[in-house]
This record gives sequence, C-alpha cells and structure tokens, in this order.
Amino acid sequence: MNDRNWNAQLEDLRIDGDRLRKSIEISAAIGATKGNGVQRCAVTDEDKRMRDTLAKWVRELGCELRIDEMGNMFAIRPGRNRSLGAIMAGSHLDTQRPGGRFDGILGVLGALEAMRSISDAGIELERDFILVNWTNEEGGWFAPACMGSGVWAGSISREWAYERKDRDGKTIFGRELARIGYKGDFPCDYRKWNIEAAYELHIEQGPILWNMKKQIGAPKGIVCLHWYDVYLEGTANQVGPTPMEGRNDALLAFSEMCQTVNKTAHQMGNMAATVGEIQNYPNSRNIIPSRVHFTVDIRSWDDEHALRAWSSMRREFEIIAERRGCRIRSEEFWKVGHASFDRRLVERVLESAEELGIGSHPMVSGAGHDMSEISKVTRGAMIFVPSIDGRSHVEAEKTSWDDCIQGSNVLLRCILKTSQQGP
Ligand code: GLV
Ligand code: MN
Ligand code: MN
Repeated sequence: MNDRNWNAQLEDLRIDGDRLRKSIEISAAIGATKGNGVQRCAVTDEDKRMRDTLAKWVRELGCELRIDEMGNMFAIRPGRNRSLGAIMAGSHLDTQRPGGRFDGILGVLGALEAMRSISDAGIELERDFILVNWTNEEGGWFAPACMGSGVWAGSISREWAYERKDRDGKTIFGRELARIGYKGDFPCDYRKWNIEAAYELHIEQGPILWNMKKQIGAPKGIVCLHWYDVYLEGTANQVGPTPMEGRNDALLAFSEMCQTVNKTAHQMGNMAATVGEIQNYPNSRNIIPSRVHFTVDIRSWDDEHALRAWSSMRREFEIIAERRGCRIRSEEFWKVGHASFDRRLVERVLESAEELGIGSHPMVSGAGHDMSEISKVTRGAMIFVPSIDGRSHVEAEKTSWDDCIQGSNVLLRCILKTSQQGP
C-alpha cells in the first residue's frame, strides 16, 4: 500500500481477541438468562447497568461521551484533523426478550476493541473515531425497532418515540429513559454531526455464511421492514352452551389470517412475512375469544412487492372476518424502506477481508439494523459474521470467538483505512 497516511504499524495492527471475549462475557452477565442468553430490553435497569459499564470503559480511553435526547451514546476519540468527517462504528446493546449474547453487542464491543487497540498502539488517526450505542434497536418491549437511530436520522419524531408504551401498555418510553438517567441534552439529530462513513459489525442472524463456511459477509443493503397491527372483534360467550354454528370467534378468525400471512409469502416469493405477536382477550379457557390483536412483519428487497403482499393479505383478512362474523381494523405501524449501502464502503469490507486472508461473501441483510436508518443520511456499510446454525433472537444465539475476532479485525481495518485514506 502506497499512502503517506499508511505505514507498517497500521498494516499490522490487530485487535486483542482475549479482551474482546472478556468484554462480551461481562456484557453477557448483565441480564443473563437461565438459557445462556441475555434479556436486556432498552430503558430497563439492565440496560442502564450495561450503559454505565460502556460509559466507564470509554471514559478510561479518554473519550468525550455525549448522550443525546434519545439516549444514544457517542464516545468520541479525537483525530488529528478535526475538520474532516468522522468515522462512526457501533450498534446496540439492548436485546430481545429474551435474546442472545451477540446481536448488536458484538458491533458495539467490537468497535470498542478496535478503539482500545488503536489507543494501545498510540496511534493518532486522521479523523475522529466515534463509537456509538443506539437506543432501542430491538423494539421488542417498546416498538418500533431502531428508535434511537430512527429519530437521529429524522425518520420518526422524538416526541412520538417518547410517547410509545411498552407491550403491556404500562410504562412510557420517554419516562423510562429519564428514569434510567439516559435522557441526554445533546440534540438527537444527524445534522449536528459531521460523519464521513459509518460501519456496523453484526452477526448475520441467518444461515448463509454458516452454510457456506465463509467468515465475513458484506451486505449490499437491508431489506425493507413493514410492521402492521390488526385488531379483530367478535363476540364473547360461554363455551359450553353456545352452539358451534354461528359463533363469532375472533381467535378462530385470527388462526386463518395467520395461515394467510404465511401462504402469501410462499406464493409471492422474495419476501418473509411473519405473525410474531398476538394478544387474545379475555384469554380464558371457557370463554369464546372476543378480541384479538396481532402483528404482521413483512420484509423484502423490493418495497413495492412487500406493499402488494400486504394488500393481498388485507383483502383475504376482510373475507375471513366477514365469514367469521368479526369486525376488523388494521393499521400500518412502522415502515422502513430497503437500504442500499455505499458501494465504495462495501468494497472496502470485501477488500479488507481479502487483505487479512479471510473468506468473504457479498449478500443482502434480511434482518433490520440501525444501519437502515444511518445509511439514509451518511455513507454506511456492515460487516457480517456467521451465526452458528443460523440462529438468532433466541437464547441459543451463538457465533464462534474466532469469527467475532476476525469480524472485529475487518472492522478495525475498515476504520483505519477510511480514517487515513478517506471513504
Ligand atoms: C431487528 O432486530 C429485526 O427485527 O430484524
Ligand atoms: Mn441487532
Ligand atoms: Mn435483533
């Protein structure tokens, strides 16, 4: 490599694999579940403990820590030329309910390890290096997902986000954020930052790399994510004396609709569609269900295709509701278009893997990520590592330590190259 900002020290720099493993293990103990996973939903006490731990770690590195109005945490390591756009790297420390030890966490702690390695080597980067922990990426307790990055990128309003209620409808997001002490003052707005490039290291959460035995994936982007709510209303009654004919059973209507969602995705292809959440009322074994609320999640690289699928499902839902004597109401809750990453940065991920002698594969992300939002307002790319047996959003989610280390080394190299040579 022939560049005045590149030398043998940068060329040979690698992360400390043992230290990375130790920090992931410390994280795994905060909200640890019996099944070897982690339950650390955003704005809970566990989230606060993990945030406090990260805050301590980045302060030990001499970083300035900024907390914005959505609780997004930005640790800034100043570069030599502060007028240049910064390099951002990170992900999220919240989990599903329950979730695994790697989803999001590897991206934040891999970036931390990259920062620690750069500091240990006494390297002054050309540009600022900003490590970020986005608030409530999962959206499993307070929907929607990608809340912190969504407000930051201007896709959803801060006030709307503050008003979201938890899945049981008991607590309010903005109040919980303040309660854990992470409702900061800094404006949650990408326009307050000068970011040249953003990287997010993440587990793949699917089976492609695992099956191909490739250590690195370089997604060209992320599928669209459409979330809908459906509300059904039938008639409650005694289960014994009420004849089987003529019932208005909302749960029975739902069960047909659930099949419709699955069948539509199969028939139309190039998409995934899932019913993941359902509330049944009054949820008693001897009362005919009178009300059901359920969610539909539709994803595809082709946004129009996903919309057509929803129209088809809705038409079918109406027919089922009519036949079952139920009223139906549906609404769009959240919609993120498919994200295309910056081609140059995606190439840099592939090229960095190759230079490190690691096998890689270009792909598309089927999971949603903060990078869906970030890449709308700045250059972005992701680095994927294999999920063992393709499993994620479960306690058994696992990635080998070697893959975590290699992914972090690719991230480190991308940060170094982008900082020293520009995007
Ligand atoms: C984010 O975790 C998603 O739902 O893909
Ligand atoms: Mn994630
Ligand atoms: Mn996730």
